[in-house]
Amino acid sequence: MTTSQSGTAGHPADRGDQHPQTLLLLGATGDLADRLLLPGLGRLVATGAQPNLTLLGSGTDDWDDERWRRRVADAFAAAGATGPRVKEVVRTTSYLPADVTKEEDLRRLLSNCHDQLVIFFALPPAITAQAAAALTRIGLPPGTRLMLEKPFGTDAVSARSLNEVLARLVPEEQVYRIDHFLGKSTVMNILGLRFANRIFEPMLSSAHVACVDIVFDETLGLAGRAGYYDGAGALIDMVQSHLLQVLALIAMDAPPTLDARDLRGRKAQVLRATRVWADDPATWSRRGRYAEGEVNGKRLPGYADEPGVDPSRGTETFAEVVLCVDTWRWAGVPFRLRTGKGLAARRKEAVVTFKQPPRVPSGLIGYDQPDRLRIGFGPDRLGLDVNINGPGNPLELGQAHLVADFGPGGLPPYGEVLRGAFDGDPTLSVRGDTAEDCWRIIAPVLDCWRAGAVPLREYPAGSWGPEDSLLIPVPAVATEG
Ligand code: BG6
Repeated sequence: MTTSQSGTAGHPADRGDQHPQTLLLLGATGDLADRLLLPGLGRLVATGAQPNLTLLGSGTDDWDDERWRRRVADAFAAAGATGPRVKEVVRTTSYLPADVTKEEDLRRLLSNCHDQLVIFFALPPAITAQAAAALTRIGLPPGTRLMLEKPFGTDAVSARSLNEVLARLVPEEQVYRIDHFLGKSTVMNILGLRFANRIFEPMLSSAHVACVDIVFDETLGLAGRAGYYDGAGALIDMVQSHLLQVLALIAMDAPPTLDARDLRGRKAQVLRATRVWADDPATWSRRGRYAEGEVNGKRLPGYADEPGVDPSRGTETFAEVVLCVDTWRWAGVPFRLRTGKGLAARRKEAVVTFKQPPRVPSGLIGYDQPDRLRIGFGPDRLGLDVNINGPGNPLELGQAHLVADFGPGGLPPYGEVLRGAFDGDPTLSVRGDTAEDCWRIIAPVLDCWRAGAVPLREYPAGSWGPEDSLLIPVPAVATEG
């Protein structure tokens, strides 16, 4: 059965800031700016939301204004962003080559920014940390907002020290740690589903839930991103950031409002209570790396043979970990997080599997599947698997799959997170303590993998992942976690 969603969507950050603003984009010639940031910005500008925006690009490449303008115009056009405002941003944008780890270059950049300033660090974590430290020595114009791309630091210690540096620059509310999953419509979809209905929320606890799976399987391989990915791997790239954010949204208690303080406070509480199942990462985590294979009829070279990859690092392209959320509501319920690249099919969803009914009356036959609630985040879709009496023999059960599409968001995720920063609303960014906590949660897994306690399993590209790794089975006994 398929239904479609009705109703109109509002947005918590719909309070446009009309003051002239400058977006200083550091790392402007890089891949992130080209593929995601500029397209998101173009779409945002096209809505008319930022009428007085000036864009200043900067990078270490020796580009001139003309080359930069072409890059911006192409990225906007590819995103389908058109209209007079979009043209104006392209016409007025300029580019300044700079090494942002050097104070004199930063001074030169800042002297070119006259309006209320938003700085986007589209840079690797080590360079971001150096640039932020240099900025503490020269100071920032009052009211400056800072946007930092993930990963935020490289571990809990570096995340903490980066937070300390940022705290010397601007108040926490002016720091936007970007997790673009929070800019997907997923966030509002989960909140609406959970807190605007009576029927789901009372069921979401250890009394009724057997386990929660958060799965992000991709068919895509490395896609030329060795420079970043080979130093990160699947656990840091996806679990430490995006999947833990999804876990927080699914497991948190209802926030009284959707403002930044309430929503981020609820997420932080749940993540503080989250750790590896039974504190035993050797048992409750898996890692893998794709070997040569075929995905959707196309040959994918093995990860280790991709240009720029150092096979001896043993970087994983598949990660799976079981976590517990040690709260009254969730104690004893395993949260299984899994992600991989080069897999047979895309699967991007959170699945809540309910416990069996206490007793299925004898006489009803064919019960073999528990009920499941599915929240898809690509495509955005709600699914409910329920047992009903099928056709023919009225005593025989069968499973029905009810599906409804969530309304698509108006903006791409980067457009949405940029809008948050322009509007001065950090609701959809990661708070400093939460960024540290996400590192704390995965640290035992990283340590255990580095010590070789969990083998790196090879799987052919186009397969379902390492053998025996199709979701680690639910722990048999729900222990004290
Ligand atoms: C990025 C990761 O943050 O998210 C990528 O670095 C991943 O490896 C991507 O493919 C997935 O996001 P999206 O928006 O494509 O669903």
